[in-house]
Amino acid sequence: MSLIITNLHVSREQTPIIKGVSLCIEPGELHILTGHNGAGKSTLLNALMANPLYEVTSGSIVLDDVDLTSLPTFARARHGLFLSLQTPPEVPGVPMDDFLRTSLEAITGERPHTLPFERDLQSALGLLRLDPKFAKRSLNEGFSGGEKKRSELLQLLMLKPKYALLDEPDSGLDPDAVGYLIEVISKLREQGTGILLVTHYEHVIDALNPTEIHKLDQGILT
Ligand SMILES: Nc1ncnc2c1ncn2[C@@H]1O[C@H](COP(=O)(O)OP(=O)(O)OP(=O)(O)O)[C@@H](O)[C@H]1O
Ligand SMILES: [Mg+2]
Repeated sequence: MSLIITNLHVSREQTPIIKGVSLCIEPGELHILTGHNGAGKSTLLNALMANPLYEVTSGSIVLDDVDLTSLPTFARARHGLFLSLQTPPEVPGVPMDDFLRTSLEAITGERPHTLPFERDLQSALGLLRLDPKFAKRSLNEGFSGGEKKRSELLQLLMLKPKYALLDEPDSGLDPDAVGYLIEVISKLREQGTGILLVTHYEHVIDALNPTEIHKLDQGILT
């Protein structure tokens, strides 16, 4: 049981960005990915989630013995992979609670029951100190920078993926919210979620007791 990335090469518009990355993440492990701006961190995470703007030119991605390399995003999500974006988009007209309910249904194949869903939602909102009214607002529309990041964490808590790829979830968070992020990551690890976390912040890394720290430089792990 693990997420195994082997000798991955990724291009964007024919430009090679990731040039042979291998990583293995076990359940409950926390791997940190650091590196300068432009090193390729977001490219790697987007390619792992099958963002069509990124082309995997060679290598493989295997999750718990299932080869995801040629599967589209929704299939990867169904197998338990989750990506929180560095810059979450605004989705007008889609209330957050509807989005979460539909996402859960798409992943599990079953419409979530109202009572347990509401209980989980309120508990996740509480953990992130988000006002319950957020759940009724359109996804990320008009949210502040830090609120958008917390909205990504809300999705993470609700969808309970096997493996989570988190692209700078701490950028733009106030010091209290960084504390909630650390709580969320620790809780997920206890539940067995394997995590690949991109961060630039030493104090976040120190607070999290990671399994391993990787540095990406010009598309290669050093
Ligand atoms: N269409 C493109 N053609 C060529 N190069 C591109 C294209 N799109 C992105 N890049 C380059 O790919 C590199 C990797 O970008 P990426 O967003 O993965 O970096 P990052 O490590 O996440 O940086 P940051 O810390 O700033 O978030 C950058 O140098 C970027 O300019
Ligand atoms: Mg990035």
